[in-house]
Amino acid sequence: MEIIKTVHHMQQTSDAIRQGGESLALVPTMGFFHEGHLTLMRAAKDHCDRLVVSLFVNPTQFGPNEDFEAYPRDTQGDLKKAEDAGADMVFMPSAGEMYPESAQTSVVVKDLPNHLCGLSRSGHFDGVTTVVAKLFHIVKPHVAVFGQKDYQQLSVISRMVMDLDMDIQIMGVPTVREADGLAMSSRNSYLSPEERKSALSLKKSLDLAQRLFHEGEKKAHIVKDFVRSYILEHPHTEIDYISLCDSVTLEDVNTLTDGTLMALAVRVGKTRLIDNGRLKK
Ligand code: PAJ
Repeated sequence: MEIIKTVHHMQQTSDAIRQGGESLALVPTMGFFHEGHLTLMRAAKDHCDRLVVSLFVNPTQFGPNEDFEAYPRDTQGDLKKAEDAGADMVFMPSAGEMYPESAQTSVVVKDLPNHLCGLSRSGHFDGVTTVVAKLFHIVKPHVAVFGQKDYQQLSVISRMVMDLDMDIQIMGVPTVREADGLAMSSRNSYLSPEERKSALSLKKSLDLAQRLFHEGEKKAHIVKDFVRSYILEHPHTEIDYISLCDSVTLEDVNTLTDGTLMALAVRVGKTRLIDNGRLKK
């Protein structure tokens, strides 16, 4: 597995792969790999001849009071895991390589960021779309793979690709969970044992909403009230948002239908966790 640190070297390598007639997949990540990341890598490798994993903790998507400095890092462990999952190259630039001081351009999706996580993480999605657009131009993949765990991120990136006519197929991979249901996340490593128990309330509340919907409840505010009280029964929880919304526009709905998205963000202790699921009849 090759480790590539500069934009120029990555672009040259990608050009050579494309000229050789091989297909190229990209899995963008911020590292500290768990089975969710590795599932994305395997899915990407199944679809393409060559796999590039990018590993870059992107400073521009963290707010001033967020965990950029503390974000967990394990480069050596990550490189071994990526290789085992089938990566041919890891693109691992420095912050200076990605963001020269002279840079003045960003990519902004207009409406989709103004919902869900975008409401409490101002500028977050501008950081995500800008870094992902740059990675697309650097790696030049045919296919790029993202997790449905970050549903809004996947929506925003898909929108960007459509709006800017980027010739890249975006693949979404279902959320990978721990045996008890907790969505895997690099940030789960912040949780104390007691917080880890409370963290399970996110997935359990998605199941609760699904059960209520299945039993015939159609009113979003009723389901939301049940979910809110259920989560708050757990110690150390503070709700950022619970949204029942249209799965395309991310606008809140009053009436639940087959396919309505339930998305939530909950602070457990100091750790902000997210999860989501689609309601099914
Ligand atoms: P990161 O949080 O490292 O996630 C990298 C990819 O792994 C994302 O597409 C994310 O949705 C996916 N992922 C994380 N946990 C998952 C899980 N439990 N199941 C399935 N997929 C999961 O998301 C980012 O990095 C960054 O915002 C990035 C896109 C790299 C831009 O900086």
